[in-house]
Amino acid sequence: MNPTDLQKTIERHFAAGADAAADPAAMESFLELRSALESGEVRAAEPDAALPTGWRVNAWVKQGILLGFRLGTLEQRAAGALSFVDKHTFPARMLSADDGIRLVIGGSAVRAGAYLARGVVCAPPMYINTGAYVDEGTMVDSHALVGSCAQIGKRVHLSAAAQIGGVLEPVNASPVVIEDDVLVGGNCGVYEGTIVRKGAVLAAGTILTRGTPVFDLVKGDVLRSLADKPLIIPEGAVVVPGARSVNKGKGQEWGLSLYAAVIVKYRDDKTDLSTTLEDLLR
Ligand SMILES: CC(C)(COP(=O)(O)OP(=O)(O)OC[C@H]1O[C@@H](n2cnc3c(N)ncnc32)[C@H](O)[C@@H]1OP(=O)(O)O)[C@@H](O)C(=O)NCCC(=O)NCCS
Repeated sequence: MNPTDLQKTIERHFAAGADAAADPAAMESFLELRSALESGEVRAAEPDAALPTGWRVNAWVKQGILLGFRLGTLEQRAAGALSFVDKHTFPARMLSADDGIRLVIGGSAVRAGAYLARGVVCAPPMYINTGAYVDEGTMVDSHALVGSCAQIGKRVHLSAAAQIGGVLEPVNASPVVIEDDVLVGGNCGVYEGTIVRKGAVLAAGTILTRGTPVFDLVKGDVLRSLADKPLIIPEGAVVVPGARSVNKGKGQEWGLSLYAAVIVKYRDDKTDLSTTLEDLLR
């Protein structure tokens, strides 16, 4: 089925609600979507230069994934001495050496419906959820999470404990997008459809949500999300975790400050030096 027909079929089965469970064609189209996601042929969001954000969100893909949860029944699976119970429609992906992906032993899993390009390295423990897209040469370090439908570009480094939010829970309309050559530092959190443009650097501990104001010290702007536009971190921005003073009410009286993200500079030679990665590990 071509992606347009698959979209129509998924939308129809999703709209059928609980009745879809009794329709074998619903499972067939879900499984077709799942393999199209795993081969990278279909994505939850894809680059589209004609749109203001540069990304087109394929909302029907999320509907298809939710359909998979509706159709799934609980099943037990065993891995050595361990056992797991989950919806049978979302088992762990079984990778082989021919896939060209390194999944290092130790507490990691890639859920069915996730795409990983050749050359991706996964350090344990880490988790890549369904619908996620992880492109060539990206490193997913220990304790990192790639949430459902998140889109991760080429040569991205998701450092230890970096958390990339998903679209399923809490319910978000758009996936998080991390474009090519971004460094997401240790313990960062990127949530709620935030787009991080090419080559940006998030210093360790930076948190970005729809509600986080980002103070650009270089350009003198304050970046925020709008009702119809996610938070967008500009290309090459170096973002560090900061604070802003509360200037009203009790907050001022108590001398409080709130978390803020701050663009201290745009990528330069020193940043390249600070973020150089060890090729031999890849
Ligand atoms: C952002 C980072 C890459 C530094 O980039 P850089 O281009 O070398 O930055 P610079 O040292 O030139 O610093 C620029 C400014 O930002 C400030 N700054 C840099 N890193 C900062 C941080 N993490 N938190 C707060 N401020 C920071 C510097 O003090 C400097 O401000 P100043 O000029 O007022 O002193 C580095 O701090 C970082 O977070 N690296 C990621 C580490 C990591 O998570 N590794 C994971 C391994 S698994």
